[in-house]
Amino acid sequence: MVTTNKTFPESASPKTILVTGASGQLGVELVYNLRQKYGSNQVLATDIGENTLLKEKGPFEWLDVLDKKRLSELISHYQIVEIYHLAAILSANGEKNISLAWRLNMNGLLNVLETARELQVQRVFWPSTIAVFGPDAPRKNTPQDVPLHPTTVYGISKVAGEHWCAYYNRRFGVDVRSIRYPGLIGYRSQPGGGTTDYAVDLFYSAIKGKPFVSPVDRNTRLPMMYMDDAVKAAYDIMNADSDQIRIRTGYNVGAMSFTPKELADAVKQIIPSFEIQYVPDERDQIAANWPDSLDDSAAREDWGWNPKFGLEFMVSDIIANLSDVFSSSREN
Ligand code: SER
Repeated sequence: MVTTNKTFPESASPKTILVTGASGQLGVELVYNLRQKYGSNQVLATDIGENTLLKEKGPFEWLDVLDKKRLSELISHYQIVEIYHLAAILSANGEKNISLAWRLNMNGLLNVLETARELQVQRVFWPSTIAVFGPDAPRKNTPQDVPLHPTTVYGISKVAGEHWCAYYNRRFGVDVRSIRYPGLIGYRSQPGGGTTDYAVDLFYSAIKGKPFVSPVDRNTRLPMMYMDDAVKAAYDIMNADSDQIRIRTGYNVGAMSFTPKELADAVKQIIPSFEIQYVPDERDQIAANWPDSLDDSAAREDWGWNPKFGLEFMVSDIIANLSDVFSSSREN
């Protein structure tokens, strides 16, 4: 039984949205933006960890996505019509606990797909990743359709998940949509155990005036995306007409690509005293099997994907915003 002291409108609007993993790196940003668009009360944030900001600004409920009963109760209670299912364990953390990563990533998705089928949720968004690719995929401009031989549990769970999404769509008509995100970089929330998160950590060191030790080698190039583009990609694919979504596994989406050295050089343009050292660890091994860049022409053609932000803008925007955050926290 769901008990809540939040009042939700009696006649819920046709866009009543559930976000799982809402306290995570993408979740915090997505909830913020969806609430701006649809109204605070329309977007139910859920997670196993609380986030004060999410809770203050709209409905928040505790939800472990492995608990299918509670998931169903929340969907019914809040009259949910769309789900953004983000709860997952990312690549680097997944290698530290492979059975939990498999269980959470796989069973969480199956619970969402099955509940969406049972309760006729209109649309589901589920992020896939560049981690679906392995060492035998072409590295540059990696095509949409290549053999997928992932080298991490996270990647294996996402390849399997892509096929479960296509299966639920084909067999039961569940309107689930997915994109293969590159590394996501934002400043409003802390990164969550991914290989590409070195890029976020680098900014925090730079702002604090500390040297950064990069776990990814200087010339390891990875596809990346600024958080505002990541939110836009999710929003755009979820709001495309159903017949525009020809691919029901996961769409490649690209935005920019850089190496740790190129990122550090861009940061040094603004913070000349910034220092970086390279001490590659297992995250560099993971990154070595991922693409440099992605061919995202299918996403562009099918539902109009069009990223807005490149490296230079992202670096100056993050530094400006993080500097404000740190200077106001020093003043308080
Ligand atoms: N950002 C993810 C990770 O590094 C890849 O999609 O795990």
